[in-house]
Amino acid sequence: MHKPSAKPQNPCFSSGPCAKRPGWSLAALDASMAGRSHRAAPAKAQLKAVIDQHKALLGIPEDWRLGIVPASDTGAVEMSLWGLLGPRGVDVLAWESFSADWLKDITGQLKLPDVRTFEADYGALPDLSQVDSDRDVVFVWNGTTSGVRVPDGDWIAADRKGLSICDATSAVFAYAMPWDRLDVVTWSWQKVLGSEGGHGMLALSPRAVERLQTHTPPWPLPKIFRLLKKGAVDEAVFAGATINTPSMLAVADCLDALAWVERIGGARATIARAQENAQVIWDWVEATPWAAHLAADPATRSVTTVCLTLPGLSADQVKAMVKLLDAEDAAHDIAAYRAAPPGLRIWCGATVEAADLRALLPWLEWARAQVC
Ligand SMILES: Cc1ncc(COP(=O)(O)O)c(C=O)c1O
Repeated sequence: MHKPSAKPQNPCFSSGPCAKRPGWSLAALDASMAGRSHRAAPAKAQLKAVIDQHKALLGIPEDWRLGIVPASDTGAVEMSLWGLLGPRGVDVLAWESFSADWLKDITGQLKLPDVRTFEADYGALPDLSQVDSDRDVVFVWNGTTSGVRVPDGDWIAADRKGLSICDATSAVFAYAMPWDRLDVVTWSWQKVLGSEGGHGMLALSPRAVERLQTHTPPWPLPKIFRLLKKGAVDEAVFAGATINTPSMLAVADCLDALAWVERIGGARATIARAQENAQVIWDWVEATPWAAHLAADPATRSVTTVCLTLPGLSADQVKAMVKLLDAEDAAHDIAAYRAAPPGLRIWCGATVEAADLRALLPWLEWARAQVC
């Protein structure tokens, strides 16, 4: 088989950090705050702009708080679990690596007495109808390591008594989030925005804030998890006064990404781009006898982390394919997650161009021919 002549213009298909936006360059960033204190008024204004623009672009309800918190999405999830859980029983959904990590923390670290777990293997989703919305529920919207996502939020009661705590790091800007079914939503900048890593976003509904203010966890909370000041939520954190030092260069990059989202038509456009991108791969799988979806049910197939199995190939052959594609600069970082079944994981979020995915397809065919 001949080597394809055209390569993807941008061969970055990693699931995090993800491809930079089309046209991105370091020179395009407004780095005027690099080297300044993040507490200086113009720097704080940039941090607040990150919050305000996220709120506007994602349609986050007015009465929610949104803050920039330490340690990326993990930090945002952990501070939620440690700060909010305890007063009610918790239902935890786990079907891939990250959701399994949250389950491990809740049972192994927090050691909560009343936890129900709903688990599924890579490729499947637990039975969502079992979730009791009078209990707290912890789940990921898009399972990044298996390419399985919840189809919607209808299984979470609108009039619930518990809190719904959602790790949405590879989901926001790729799916319409049903804010009325959620109480805590977390994400990071390096996924669908393709921005720099290190910073977490924490969105809290009024009910989540009420829980924070009325519940004192029995365990100690490190400084980077603390969101209260004198018993009330620390409003400054939600206005750009971060708990500790952010990277102002990353902030500049995030603002660049948000401006791009705004230019192309907002979250509606980023959602459409992810859908169109995923469809390129889905159509190819449909026509390709040697590739299959890891996600069994089409309604649960991720539009960001498209995870494929290659049933006729050994794990070593898949590894060799991935290595060849990397060496040829045809596709970087598309191996399945290390704990997932062997296969490919191709990021299809908004910063990826459909044309680059189309250009990747003949390379997949070529790489397979080389290892078979
Ligand atoms: C669903 C999910 N949760 C958590 C994380 C960890 O995110 P971070 O590295 O931003 O802390 C990831 C990273 O890929 C993820 O996909």
